[in-house]
Amino acid sequence: MISQKIQSVRGMNDILPDEAEFWDLFDETIRSWLKSYGYRPLRLPIVEPTPLFKRAIGEVTDIVEKEMYSFVDSLNGEPLTLRPEGTAGCVRAVIEHNLIAQQPQRLYYMGPMFRHERPQKGRYRQFHQVGVEALGFPGPDIDAEQILMGARLWDDLGLDGISLQLNTLGQFAERASHRAELITYFERHSESLDADATRRLHSNPLRILDSKNPALEELIHGAPKLIDYLGAESMAHFEGVQRVLRDAGLPFEINPRLVRGLDYYNLTVFEWVTDRLGAQGTVCAGGRYDGLVQQLGGKPAPACGFAMGVERLISLIRDAGGEVRAAAVDVYLVHQGIAASRLAARVAEGLRDRGIDVLFHCGGGSFKSQMKKADASGAGFAVIVGDDEAAAGAVTLKPLRATGEQPNPQKRVSVDAVADEIMSSILDWDET
Ligand code: HAM
Repeated sequence: MISQKIQSVRGMNDILPDEAEFWDLFDETIRSWLKSYGYRPLRLPIVEPTPLFKRAIGEVTDIVEKEMYSFVDSLNGEPLTLRPEGTAGCVRAVIEHNLIAQQPQRLYYMGPMFRHERPQKGRYRQFHQVGVEALGFPGPDIDAEQILMGARLWDDLGLDGISLQLNTLGQFAERASHRAELITYFERHSESLDADATRRLHSNPLRILDSKNPALEELIHGAPKLIDYLGAESMAHFEGVQRVLRDAGLPFEINPRLVRGLDYYNLTVFEWVTDRLGAQGTVCAGGRYDGLVQQLGGKPAPACGFAMGVERLISLIRDAGGEVRAAAVDVYLVHQGIAASRLAARVAEGLRDRGIDVLFHCGGGSFKSQMKKADASGAGFAVIVGDDEAAAGAVTLKPLRATGEQPNPQKRVSVDAVADEIMSSILDWDET
């Protein structure tokens, strides 16, 4: 009887070798880009205590209300959650290890996040983020630097058509006055609100501004604007960010409706959006969260950060024709016969000692079938060991890639000389 197949969880994808090699190259670009701005890596747990996210992201947010994979640890009854984002865990770690006691920190993390959303193109239940956080910097210079970092990355990745939306959320007290006015305004129009908006009216009226319901568009358009409630300091911060962006020649659009789906933000918020990904066009988003460190039990410290959606960026790169193939191995090792296979294993290790990548043929088969596999592997050389070679303490070296006009004859090489021979051919290839 054939057992029934088990499939992956809906919205959680396998990333197969062709794709995963591309991801590895993407990761390398990301790491060197972050390093060039002085950001250092951090590896954080995927599971965190549930109250961390409730406190950081906010009880009345889509993420906390309906998207978290939460469960109770059956061994000790602890409420746990698969992280839906990385900022909360990063701030928890920074506080726990006292990382900003001496100096501010520029940190980043990469990895899977989990949200129980309705899967569609660009939206998954397990997805990946690159998160970038700067803690301990109060001024608008770091906000602007983080935004400019994004612009440079799109350029490095050969992406165009990603535009910047910018807004400020002001400070808590300013938001509170605005919020009170918003409630009054929406109460006056309560008959026009939909169910979601009615539910949020007193708990989180700001989120009504983010509603996608076209019936609310006009009402939202006429609502009191936060910018009219901002004090001089908040305005100066916002203008400070804009000045740096203008000086750098980076175009942006101020979008007063940009409120973000997480509650920890204040002052600057931003999103990088493209119209090439359908409904899920935000590839990167973030802003300032000066209250979060204190809210999670640390000494007050300003902070600012953003996260990018890896699936969305990779899909953009692919659509733009950015097909990157990881380099194939240098050598495919073909061997047949007991003595030959033992020698071949030694040769493989010797080549690897010299930094040469070797794919050692496993699974037997005729020379002919092994050579077919060698050709298909993309390797630069076949190193062939049969009984004759084993007896002579030698190998046959066969170049598999044509170089220029030259035919590439195979030749017998002693075991001791094969690494040098391969290295010098690789150098020759690099020069042509
Ligand atoms: P976020 O806007 O919730 O912010 O997510 C950041 C990015 O992650 C989104 O712009 C999108 O590209 C990607 N993303 C989110 N949900 C999904 C999904 N279901 N499937 C695929 N991609 C998705 C945050 O998470 C904040 N922690 C960002 C931040 C860091 N703010 C300050 N520091």
